[in-house]
Amino acid sequence: MNDEIKTKLLSDFKRIYGSSSDVRVFFAPGRVNLIGEHTDYNGGHVFPCALSLGTYAAVKVRPDSKIRLYSLNFEKDGIIEAAASVKLVNSLEYKWANYPLGIVETFRKRGMQINSGFDILYYGTIPNGSGLSSSASIEILTGYCLSELYGFNVTKQDLALIGQDSENNFNGMNCGIMDQFASAFGKAGHAIFLDTATLKYEYVPVDLKGIKIVISNTNVKHELTSSGYNDRRRESETALSDLKTVTDIKALGELDEESFNKYASAIKDEVCFRRARHAVTENLRTIEAVKALNAGEIATFGKLMNESHASLDKDYEVTCPELNIMAETEQSLSGVIGARMTGGGFGGCTVALVHDEYVDQVTEKTKEIYTSKTGITPAFYVVDIGDGPSELL
Ligand code: GLA
Repeated sequence: MNDEIKTKLLSDFKRIYGSSSDVRVFFAPGRVNLIGEHTDYNGGHVFPCALSLGTYAAVKVRPDSKIRLYSLNFEKDGIIEAAASVKLVNSLEYKWANYPLGIVETFRKRGMQINSGFDILYYGTIPNGSGLSSSASIEILTGYCLSELYGFNVTKQDLALIGQDSENNFNGMNCGIMDQFASAFGKAGHAIFLDTATLKYEYVPVDLKGIKIVISNTNVKHELTSSGYNDRRRESETALSDLKTVTDIKALGELDEESFNKYASAIKDEVCFRRARHAVTENLRTIEAVKALNAGEIATFGKLMNESHASLDKDYEVTCPELNIMAETEQSLSGVIGARMTGGGFGGCTVALVHDEYVDQVTEKTKEIYTSKTGITPAFYVVDIGDGPSELL
């Protein structure tokens, strides 16, 4: 698969940029979050894993300071040109290119200025707008390319932080660290149990014998979500600052259920109260889910996934009718251990754990019910947990 993609990228690179010598090919993965949603900017835990789906790039350093970018996913935009020697600004014209350009600018901001530019050709295998972090994968990929091509030796943690910084400050999306961290630290067969308050993490083997991870795409794009997402952040922060008037905490992730119940009346606004209740309970569910997985109690893990979805629907209000239909349909079918929306929400995908022998039946039945209720044809991906960024040699 990788060999085929590499051959294709090299031949497309030649077609687009007219050169085939000294071209290197890199990959960085997207991610699916198994549990721990909207906890990463609340100082809580997350439990994502990298996918074998992601973004590829063929890249070659140029003798001058030009940067030229092209995406096989957005061919109509053609070659986009920028100058490595100047401060880059977000241009509304080419949405996708703002992700890689933001990374170049964030490297520059951190003292890693590149003098010679590069030609780069991207190709992504993640459907964009699906909530599987196509944006984090292009950020981590671009950072990894810069680090390798110009010898910056950026650590995985810095790659993730640069990706987040760029998305927050260049792209105006106030995301947490989860997506970039999952892409940078991906490890095949493992999910990443990350404490976002400290960035301490643990690789947990996801040894799902006889079970598959099934991602179901509502095909409702979550593109216009940055305002909803940023609102949720603000509401969580308001709840936190109310709580700070009665208890000494830095983040909602520090609270257990008992202490939350004790102090919650300090939260003045009912909506902010529910946002905080989600952040607190979701963090606790994530910790419990990892314990259950380590103990081989997969049914408990599944039950917590279902509860996570309900909390994201009722308390955090980041699902949408299509996500609810998808998750609730899956939860009702035989062979499904648990199902929930994954990622930022407002559209995108669900993730479900499904017993092997039921996978076809579950996807067929879900497709039938989902399509009849929404009029939209969904897509399904049975995925493997993949590695972090790499060069295709
Ligand atoms: C998006 C953000 C992440 C995280 C999730 C919700 O994917 O980029 O930082 O907040 O939403 O868990």
